[in-house]
Amino acid sequence: MKGKEYISVARGDAEGQARVAATAAQKPAAKPAEPQPEPKAPEFKYIGKPTARVDGREIVTGRAKFTHDIKLRGMLIGKILRSPYAAAEIVAIDLAPALALPGVMAALKLAEGKVRYAGQQVAAVAAVDERTAEKALALVKVEYKTLPYVVDWEKARDAGSPQVRDDKPNVEKINEYSRGDVEKGFAEADVVVERTYRTGFEVHNPTETHGSVAVWEGDHLVVYDSTQGIHGVRDGLARALKLPAANVTVIKNYMGGGFGSKLSLGDYTVAAANLARQAGRPVKMLNSRRDNAVCVGYRPSSHQTYKVGAKKDGTIVAFSLLNYASGGIAAGDDVAEPVVDIYKCPNCKVEEHTVFTNVGAQRAMRAPGHTQGAFGLESVMDELATALDMDPLELRRKNYSARNLGDTGLPYSSKGLDQCYDLGAKAIGWERRNRRPGEGSVSGPLRRGIGAASSIWFGAGSPGTLADVVLYPDGSVEVVCGTQDIGCGTRTHMAVVAAETLGLEPKDITVKLGNSDYPWAPISGGSLTTPSVAPAVRDAALKAVERLKAVAAARLKVEAGDIVMADRKFASKSDPAKSASFAEVCRDLRRETVFHGERGGMPGDQYAFNTFGAHFAEVEVDVETGRIRVLKYAAAQDSGRIINKLTAESQVVGGITQGLSAGLYEERVMDDMTGNVVNPNLRDYKIATSLDIPEIEILFADIVDPRINNLGTKGLGEPARVPSSPAIANAVYNAIGVHVREIPMTPQRVLAALKRKEAGS
Ligand code: MOS
Repeated sequence: MKGKEYISVARGDAEGQARVAATAAQKPAAKPAEPQPEPKAPEFKYIGKPTARVDGREIVTGRAKFTHDIKLRGMLIGKILRSPYAAAEIVAIDLAPALALPGVMAALKLAEGKVRYAGQQVAAVAAVDERTAEKALALVKVEYKTLPYVVDWEKARDAGSPQVRDDKPNVEKINEYSRGDVEKGFAEADVVVERTYRTGFEVHNPTETHGSVAVWEGDHLVVYDSTQGIHGVRDGLARALKLPAANVTVIKNYMGGGFGSKLSLGDYTVAAANLARQAGRPVKMLNSRRDNAVCVGYRPSSHQTYKVGAKKDGTIVAFSLLNYASGGIAAGDDVAEPVVDIYKCPNCKVEEHTVFTNVGAQRAMRAPGHTQGAFGLESVMDELATALDMDPLELRRKNYSARNLGDTGLPYSSKGLDQCYDLGAKAIGWERRNRRPGEGSVSGPLRRGIGAASSIWFGAGSPGTLADVVLYPDGSVEVVCGTQDIGCGTRTHMAVVAAETLGLEPKDITVKLGNSDYPWAPISGGSLTTPSVAPAVRDAALKAVERLKAVAAARLKVEAGDIVMADRKFASKSDPAKSASFAEVCRDLRRETVFHGERGGMPGDQYAFNTFGAHFAEVEVDVETGRIRVLKYAAAQDSGRIINKLTAESQVVGGITQGLSAGLYEERVMDDMTGNVVNPNLRDYKIATSLDIPEIEILFADIVDPRINNLGTKGLGEPARVPSSPAIANAVYNAIGVHVREIPMTPQRVLAALKRKEAGS
């Protein structure tokens, strides 16, 4: 699977680790398992049902401590000075005037040589309060020699543009893939459609901005960090500060979102640790909303040209994709996996390039690559359907892959996408769509339309995840895992799985997470958390149950095989009069007892282990103003077994909200004249509000494959984001008869598309 392997190689940092973990988790075994009939799922009391968050009260009452809430005795406030120039040589940095200011306790130089984007860190200070820190920043003297820069990726492609990086030209090939013979495929096609789609720069904007608090306890560093990966931050800090990893602890109890921008160690965290060491006091370093827009990433842009060839009956015979991505000083995302994977087209060719600019580096953002790629691919599918005069859903059903069998040699597919098409089409009322785009009823300037889009994403979890279940002699139960809850409800799903397995209620379980001293779990990215952590907790709890049964058997003087567990009791099957309570059996353990759970590896068929989704949107477009309103939405997901229906639905609502927002409003704009971000705030960078969100119906496919893990559960966070923007774009196309082909679909772009339609192009 070239498309996938490329991903794991291309990203060297924690963002890549998500992909590597997701990919490694899905490596086909040498000898793939035969397809198994899906066994009937056991009846669960909590798993799969809606369970309110065990920490919900804590969060809504403000008692939950986020990184921003951490206050320590003697804590200083750290601030970072950032380059105002998109490219400059740093001639000199003088910290002395800042250090001379009363209340300033430490200062650092953070740059030498060249800075390559506006917002790059240059120096840092720590002071007794925020005002003093800000004054001190103004006193740091930096002498810059400005250099030519380019922030517009299309200009950066010109030969005459300033070279952004010293080590390579501005345009670099980042991905190549091919199977079959596309030229032959196009020659055999009855219909060929070629279109270009663009996606803009989308900023993560988590509610809680990035930030860290660093405190030294002797030679042990403790860092509270708003991060998606406590273990990765620990290892990164150990490397950056030349400390043994054993001397670093990273804590993250609650977080207000990350969406990929908090997957890896931040340079502000290293600065906080260094300032704290210098000052001998704790340092808190919080990024501002502006920092959030200029130095901790965004979704890279894409400029995707698809050519697709099909037979009259809708059989796709050739696909080609040429993409230009831009991720600032870092490479953009390759977006080809959807076109490589979703449809079984025998001839497929991909070429992708990145264009470097003097802009901060992109960071992985919720289904990196897939989100952009699905926008282009699913849009061209709809334009192809029009050219074939075919129902776009029929076109998809006809071509969706049972996987490229040549690659995996496997006859088995999850059938997840099929079910998602059925569920979503029924929920939205697919038959109500305009038979051909733009042929709906007209009511003044308003046009209505319905559209759909499909997705696949990884999400089978990370083998090697560890979790402990601890039973105390008083009957209390603790579940411990070094995962992190990034806002999705990880605490609750851990409690649900442990309670279910131990015959208790979720509120009986004390959950401990968010500390890198706890057993290892992967980053909370790549939609890995639930399919990694839930099976590990299940494994530990199953071991605990076995042990408790044995202890109960001894107490009741029966065979262990004779014991059944139900309702906080262990009873003898043969003599139901004999029973012992959960608490009594725990007391017999005499001391706290730890059961280690591990999430095991997986057999082959990586395609079946992917997650699938199909989203359906109904929109209303005002052809006079170009305004789009989403009226109704139906989302169907195959994420295997759902652990907590309530938080799973929240994930889907979040994915749709983000896709609607990026599809209609969100776009970071760069200023050519200054090399800075024009809209680094939430006033000028538009995000959807609750008033923009339509009625949403969420459906889950009923497919549980026990080969994936002991619960048959897959990820959901990213899958819900992938098809949301293209479903809306296709609905707009169905409404107005012309595809807007670029997100965000601003009123201006909608009106431009309508002009294009009038001009007949
Ligand atoms: Mo996700 S972009 O792996 O947090």
